[in-house]
Amino acid sequence: MTFDRILTHRQEFPFLDQYAYFNYGGQGLMSRRALEAVTQAQETLQRIAPFSQAAYDYSLQLTEDLRRTIAGELGAPPDSITLTEDTTVGCNIALWGLDWQAGDHLLITDCEHQGVLAIVQELQHRFSIEVSVCPLLPTLNGGDPVTTLVSYLRPNTRMVVLSHVLWNTGQVLPLEPIVAGCRSHSDRVRILVDAAQSVGVLPLNLTTLGADYYAFTCHKWWCGSAGVGGLYVRPEVREALRPTFIGWRSIRTNAQGKPIAWEGGGKRYEVATSAVLLYPGVTTAIQVQQSLGSAAERYGMICDRSRYLWEQLQTIPQVTTLRTTPPESGLVSFQITSGPQQAQHRGLVMGLESQGILVRLLLDPNCIRACTHYFTTEAEIDRLVAEIGAIVGK
Ligand SMILES: Cc1ncc(COP(=O)(O)O)c(C=O)c1O
Repeated sequence: MTFDRILTHRQEFPFLDQYAYFNYGGQGLMSRRALEAVTQAQETLQRIAPFSQAAYDYSLQLTEDLRRTIAGELGAPPDSITLTEDTTVGCNIALWGLDWQAGDHLLITDCEHQGVLAIVQELQHRFSIEVSVCPLLPTLNGGDPVTTLVSYLRPNTRMVVLSHVLWNTGQVLPLEPIVAGCRSHSDRVRILVDAAQSVGVLPLNLTTLGADYYAFTCHKWWCGSAGVGGLYVRPEVREALRPTFIGWRSIRTNAQGKPIAWEGGGKRYEVATSAVLLYPGVTTAIQVQQSLGSAAERYGMICDRSRYLWEQLQTIPQVTTLRTTPPESGLVSFQITSGPQQAQHRGLVMGLESQGILVRLLLDPNCIRACTHYFTTEAEIDRLVAEIGAIVGK
């Protein structure tokens, strides 16, 4: 990929040069085409009358366009995809949908997001299930996450909850062998993947990966509209995952309009009125990314940029990266090793923001996270690293 091609591609993003942006793991920047697609959809709906047969057909078309685009990008059948609002809603659908019995065991890793942890805590409270935590943080720079995780399975384990890319350290978990390890332990174990940091980063084929539930959002690495996400449910386990939140979009009706069955595929977990007019902002965002290169090429570029950032950070004596080897995703986490860490980290994040450089603070482990996307430039990274050096060197 030539540098000129990236520079041309960057022009798709109207605000990319307004600041130095390293928060793609929090929220992406939208391209002009994606922004325009949302505006156009809003106008179209008003023009054709918001509550009309034409509007219903239009909403259906936007919904199915997005479902097909997501399915194509993730290597999954369209009817295995449920459209949601965000990652956490997808995790809720999977976690509440299982027929939990008192004494069932749920295994979660020590690197999961607080929203997902909170669901698990409430499940424990409601259903008296056993919950245990598998320590994967120590495997960041050595050790085997697969063996570690499998060793925490119990005879009564019903679900394993893990992220594909850990949001705090950027570690990529080897999902295929983990799924294989869980399956050979017991075919009762279901695997829920928090994919907030992997969708839009890793080239994915969900059919091959074999996880049961894969919950993601479209507003981070795909750079789509905030408020749109999705959930993949492996077709073979769909019937056993009952909908928890239910509405007119989840069901089929008889001639009198009364519910008679669930909708066929992933639609059964969709509820009622949603922000469908945001969907073209995601469909277009994915197409913009596809226009630059394949998912594998984009992933290669993300890692190329994160490696450069990781290498540059090694040149600042007061900074230590969490990883001792170059990153395998776009997340680069680091700590300041001199002085009181927490105050230092907060001060650095705020100091950088005042210079128009956006990174985020993480609490566990206490660190700062900077994200590189495939269109991040070395010049942006140089600016970030120079400013970090200037602030911590004061
Ligand atoms: C790993 C992980 N899970 C869940 C979330 C929450 O995402 P959402 O707002 O899409 O539910 C995030 C967001 O930062 C995340 O990084």
